[in-house]
Amino acid sequence: MRTIDWVDGAVEIIDQTALPDTERTLRLTTVDEVIDAIQRLAVRGAPAIGVAGALGVAIAARQYADEPDALTSAVLRLETARPTAVNLARGVRTAASALGGGPQAVLDAALALRDAEIASSAAMAERGADLVAVLCGSAPRLLTHCNTGGLATVTGGTALGVVAELHRRGGLGAVIASETRPLLQGARLTAWELGRLGIDYQVAVDGAGPFLMARGEVDAVILGADRVCANGDVINKVGSYAHALGARAAGIPFIVVAPETTVDEHTPSGETVEIEDRAADEVLHFGNARSAPPGARAINPAFDVTPYHLVTAIVTDTRVIEPNA
Ligand code: MRU
Repeated sequence: MRTIDWVDGAVEIIDQTALPDTERTLRLTTVDEVIDAIQRLAVRGAPAIGVAGALGVAIAARQYADEPDALTSAVLRLETARPTAVNLARGVRTAASALGGGPQAVLDAALALRDAEIASSAAMAERGADLVAVLCGSAPRLLTHCNTGGLATVTGGTALGVVAELHRRGGLGAVIASETRPLLQGARLTAWELGRLGIDYQVAVDGAGPFLMARGEVDAVILGADRVCANGDVINKVGSYAHALGARAAGIPFIVVAPETTVDEHTPSGETVEIEDRAADEVLHFGNARSAPPGARAINPAFDVTPYHLVTAIVTDTRVIEPNA
């Protein structure tokens, strides 16, 4: 299964808004369709939107072959479709740097990024599983947040790829998927992926995480990142910081798994990263039903910042970073 790919001259994605009930593929043929899919989270997860952005430039290079101003504007709109994950801007710039070579060169650059992300997932799974075994011993009970599996990358995944690799090795104790309010990437997507992998799991509300850690039911937290800053601050789905505080209080490791394409050496720390604010309705509704009284207002940061001093290790495709070493 590939979350995103280039098929017969268009971008094809698994529509993540429809999961877990409906498995459908969307075919994106214009820049506007790619941007809309990124913003609606039909394609989501830092590495996946990096590839989506790069393939979006490949579409732009064809769509606006004779309109240089429109092409420049399309590239900018793709780059800024979502602000927080560094992979998106990076993926768009990688593909755009090949624009001088024409549409085929842009597509080749985007496909090279896709292939690099697939290889990264495989490398992180091995390195991460080795590290978890060292830090937690055999049969660790892990808590993960948001969705970091093949859906968030191209295939494989980051943190969930490590979970899958531990399972393959026969060295996984248990997995708790934190539901990930408000859009339920954990309950909808991680649970769906774990089921397909044949891995037993439990879903917990986000607020239960730190308590389950305090009660001794979790051996480590393992999750992904949308941006890793130069000092080791980790930007990830809102709720990650609470799990990091819980892990520190319980004295268990907090492990981040992210490809080098998510590591942003140009951003010194988390303070300056733009955190995406999403629509109030995502918080004020549960599914299609309103859950707050009419007139209620909401604040909806999609990500948070976990300071480096709460991070035990960051596993990438090429190294293990220990921000506090
Ligand atoms: O808003 P989303 O669903 O795109 O957020 C995704 C996350 O926060 C993931 O944890 C992160 O991208 C790491 S995925 C490999």
